[in-house]
Amino acid sequence: MYTGFKHLHSTLAYVLLAGLIISILYVLFAYLQNKGYNRKMALLGLICAHVQFVVGLIIYFVSPLGIKGASGEAMKISTARLYFLEHPLMMLIAIVLITVGYSRAKRLTIPKKQNGTILAFYLLALVIILSRIPWQVWPKGLVG
Ligand code: HEM
Ligand code: HEM
Repeated sequence: MYTGFKHLHSTLAYVLLAGLIISILYVLFAYLQNKGYNRKMALLGLICAHVQFVVGLIIYFVSPLGIKGASGEAMKISTARLYFLEHPLMMLIAIVLITVGYSRAKRLTIPKKQNGTILAFYLLALVIILSRIPWQVWPKGLVG
């Protein structure tokens, strides 16, 4: 089960990055060209993020690197700390940002503001996500 979820999680990382970037680019062009707000295009990034979150949560409890790897000693080891603390916590913050951005935009009525809100929240989330991906094992983790 662990291996399966690990593969799913590293595959969904591509899906999330692609989905989020497509959402951001689409909304960016709409913003720049003063076009309407397309909720479905923002929903793409949101759904990818929520699905990855659920899988991440499961992996956190089955992986030796997740909750089982948490200890005072592990706190001093940077890769261990990344897996049991920094990665999950920052990813959670990023996904909360995406969700807050999406639901704020949903409640606004002026398209320029809706697009601007999505841009601000999704871009910040993307930066946070990129900052805490375990780059030493991914993308090559998918084959290895
Ligand atoms: C924004 C969403 C996320 C992205 C893009 C992401 C991406 C990744 C990637 C690329 C890996 C490396 C997988 C590999 O070895 O090939 C990984 C590992 C891991 N992730 Fe995430 N993740 C996300 C969210 C989460 C969340 C929310 C949690 C926990 C609550 C989590 C827990 C873990 C754990 C424990 C590992 C280590 C798994 C292992 O190798 O045993 N992730 N993640
Ligand atoms: C623990 C898991 C999850 C939590 C805590 C969660 C939380 C939330 C929250 C708070 C919202 C509200 C956003 C708003 O104000 O509109 C939302 C919306 C949404 N979530 Fe999740 N979610 C989870 C898992 C999932 C999964 C697995 C999917 C898979 C498809 C998903 C799909 C969606 C969709 C489509 C919406 C937007 C609905 C709309 O258009 O208003 N979520 N979620």
